[in-house]
Amino acid sequence: MDANRVDAPAAGGPLAEAPRADVSVGGSSVGDVSVCDAPRAEAPLVDVRDLRYRWPGAAADTLDIPALQLQAGEQLFLRGASGSGKSTLLALLAGVLAPTAGSLRVLGQDLGRLSGAARDRLRADQIGVVFQQFNLLPYLSVRDNVTLALRFSARRRAQAATGEAERLLGAMGLPAALWSRTAAQLSVGQQQRVAAARALIGRPALLLADEPTSALDEDSRDAFMALLQQCCAEAGSALVFVSHDARLAARFARVADLSRLNRSAA
Ligand SMILES: Nc1ncnc2c1ncn2[C@@H]1O[C@H](COP(=O)(O)OP(=O)(O)O)[C@@H](O)[C@H]1O
Ligand SMILES: [Mg+2]
Repeated sequence: MDANRVDAPAAGGPLAEAPRADVSVGGSSVGDVSVCDAPRAEAPLVDVRDLRYRWPGAAADTLDIPALQLQAGEQLFLRGASGSGKSTLLALLAGVLAPTAGSLRVLGQDLGRLSGAARDRLRADQIGVVFQQFNLLPYLSVRDNVTLALRFSARRRAQAATGEAERLLGAMGLPAALWSRTAAQLSVGQQQRVAAARALIGRPALLLADEPTSALDEDSRDAFMALLQQCCAEAGSALVFVSHDARLAARFARVADLSRLNRSAA
């Protein structure tokens, strides 16, 4: 038993409470997370150190972030003007882009050292994304849009109980009468709730939301925010919510300004 503890892989960190957590991201770098001399028991879910990103062909870095940490289950509102690099940062956190320099750890994995395939695996298993433009498949039913996220990840399938899609859709305020309709038949506000349910299914460790309320009217926006934050808390998913809309900041215990975090900010 003791030997198991000593050799516990990265899954023993922020995912320790998940009994079936098996972070099989296929890399040899699993295990780094336990090499920690600080008294803190758990490594942060997200740990950014001197992260730089420069778009190919650009004259300057878009991002140069000395430090940013996020703990498991934490909800962070990241404010920033249009063009300040919010979507670029989320693409880095999601492993869609690779850092130009510095270290970006998610669940103890240094994304800059993982192959593209390993980053894809980590994203499929552990990260849910809600985009500004939803990115639902319009011809699929509401239910099938949500369960689609499970097809790419055995871990998310194992974490999602039978009926989880329906439970999440209900929790996001979508009545059963809508579940068999195609996504194209829903209103914008309803589609965004489906996108949130899809991001949350299988309880990813990290949920990234890129200005998901910008197409919603005020009432829909408030209802969506409340449901999204509640569902993240229930799933134990940390949330990084980016927006230029400072009015949303009051909903979050932790608020950061990208122009302050980012040394490259104009
Ligand atoms: N695909 C891309 N290729 C080159 N430059 C890009 C690309 N996407 C964004 N940028 C540049 O990166 C900067 C930040 O953009 P972005 O991350 O989209 O900001 P935000 O999401 O805060 O509006 C901008 O200067 C933008 O021109
Ligand atoms: Mg953006």
